[in-house]
Amino acid sequence: MQILGIDIGGSGIKGAPVNVETGELTAERYRIETPSPSTPELVTDAVAELAKHFEWTGPIGCTFPGVVRDGLTWTAANVDTGWIGLDAHRLVQRKTNCPVLVINDADAAGIAEMHFGAGRHQGGTVIMITLGTGIGSAIFLNGHLLPNAELGHLQIRGKDAEHRASARIREEKALSWKRWGALVNEYFQYVEFLFSPNLFIVGGGVSKKYDKFFPYIDVRAELVPALLRNDAGIVGAAYAARDLV
Ligand code: BGC
Repeated sequence: MQILGIDIGGSGIKGAPVNVETGELTAERYRIETPSPSTPELVTDAVAELAKHFEWTGPIGCTFPGVVRDGLTWTAANVDTGWIGLDAHRLVQRKTNCPVLVINDADAAGIAEMHFGAGRHQGGTVIMITLGTGIGSAIFLNGHLLPNAELGHLQIRGKDAEHRASARIREEKALSWKRWGALVNEYFQYVEFLFSPNLFIVGGGVSKKYDKFFPYIDVRAELVPALLRNDAGIVGAAYAARDLV
């Protein structure tokens, strides 16, 4: 069964059809620059353009970089505030004429890793953390997701964690791996203190350079890089939308 997965990110909106039995993309990814401002109208137009590119008429799973409950988007830390309280599910459905599921981006990435990547066959508490423009999180207990965990907004030293330790901060402040690694370490130690997970899975573009900063992270839990890298959001959103079929 194939479902179109779409990942709305800070810089790009990416999509591809996914074989949800294997987690593989069945066509090359297509990417559109995230519009600026990232208003619901402009972003959902881009989502519709993506669906059109694949001549898609079937179900779509679509990520959003904020809280999503029952199809409504509730926060917008890194996108236009017009998304707050919006019926995103209905808007995307109207623009694409396809059945749609909207899901938090980190939850989608976590689902992909749990089914096809670094979290396969992992019981106990697993926490996926994505280090990107913001910090995303997904918590699993014996494979079951607790949605919208929002651990990127934990307060550390009086500041939002994602304003201290996201990948964007490393780039903007041109921090060395060691300096940034120390900030990331403080963050992971705090999350570990709160949840004592068995496993941390670290995603986001920077996770492909995990060997540069993992040495600075000192936690008791096992710590592994995500395996699906850039495709995790696409694959997880498509997988989560299976029930639409
Ligand atoms: C948002 C999360 C999102 C994360 C990664 C945070 O600012 O609040 O919902 O998962 O960024 O995009």
